[in-house]
Amino acid sequence: MSVTAIIAAAGSGERFGAGIPKALIQLGDKTLLEHAVASISAIVDQIIISAPAGFEKQISELVGAGVVVVTGGATRSQSVRAALSQATGDYVLVHDAARALASSDLAGAVLTALKSGHDAVVPALRVVDTIKVVDADSFVISSLDRASLVGAQTPQGFKTSVLRAAHASGSNATDDGALIEASGGRVKIIAGEERALKITTPADLHTALAYLGFDETYRSGIGVDAHAFASGRPLWLACLLWPEHDGVQGHSDGDVAAHAICDALFAASQLGDLGSNFGTDRPEYADASGAQMLKETLSIVSAAGYLISNVTVQIIGNHPKISARRAEAIAAISSALGGIPISLSATTTDGMGLTGEGKGIAAIASALVFKR
Ligand code: CTP
Ligand code: MG
Repeated sequence: MSVTAIIAAAGSGERFGAGIPKALIQLGDKTLLEHAVASISAIVDQIIISAPAGFEKQISELVGAGVVVVTGGATRSQSVRAALSQATGDYVLVHDAARALASSDLAGAVLTALKSGHDAVVPALRVVDTIKVVDADSFVISSLDRASLVGAQTPQGFKTSVLRAAHASGSNATDDGALIEASGGRVKIIAGEERALKITTPADLHTALAYLGFDETYRSGIGVDAHAFASGRPLWLACLLWPEHDGVQGHSDGDVAAHAICDALFAASQLGDLGSNFGTDRPEYADASGAQMLKETLSIVSAAGYLISNVTVQIIGNHPKISARRAEAIAAISSALGGIPISLSATTTDGMGLTGEGKGIAAIASALVFKR
């Protein structure tokens, strides 16, 4: 009997607020999605990921050949349906990328219960809060009896034919078990696990890190970079192109903000600096973009066991004016660094020294990292 895993990863992660899809947020050495794939892959024959539209290729490269990637839908149920149409297994495990740390054992227990004859199996934990039903004006209608309440987790397991029939109505629910219930099926609850928590907000990421054994010994680092203006070159700054301005001299695209951040990250992680990692003698980094260097830095720092807590960068120069594009620049930098919080500010030097003479542009950055 073959088993398909469907991993719902098409959500945008509004509540997390990283500006990138939640499944692509870094948790320790891997993205949430890679964690989910790694723990379920051992017990299934086929894996199908529902990806956010536009991220199919990136996700496919991340998880490697052998994993089917489909475009998700506007709701979780639509994303599951998109994947279900390609499922070849007799059984299907539907899992949230957001429950990145659910163990292989949990998936195994769901499968065992399924094979014992149940049509639908859902892992769940008893709820700790008292759950109240409220009206639109926030008045309580009733309080539920906690003794009979559980919070559903994933992976949820189904006979594939049963799940297909439940999805045939095309309705939406926040989990697949609810669709089985709505179509009159029986759903068996088995014991869930704490580590299968749904990562929803940045605070949940800290809880998840604790499960991975990261302690919170922080190290800080700083980095500075400056380049002289050079006419005829495009200006790349903070991972954005500034078409009305002259660019700067330099190996690579001369993005001083990105370079200062790379230096700060290397310093914090005690891994040398920009020069020792991407020296001018390495032709593959000639004309490398700031975003590429940030991504490469993230992978070096992650491989050494460090996690980035946050990064601050200040641009020092007479122009360009950063404020109008601050949000865009923060999103671009954060996306290159796996969705971490970024602060970006800018200042001039009152016509004095450094960049005040208008000859170039500089940036200073600080980074905070911590280690497993
Ligand atoms: N999901 C999906 N397709 C959607 C919405 C959600 O595949 N249209 C997936 C998410 O990627 C996630 C899981 O369903 O793995 C549970 O959803 P949730 O935790 O709500 O994630 P997001 O929808 O991304 O987060 P938010 O609701 O905060 O935007
Ligand atoms: Mg959601």
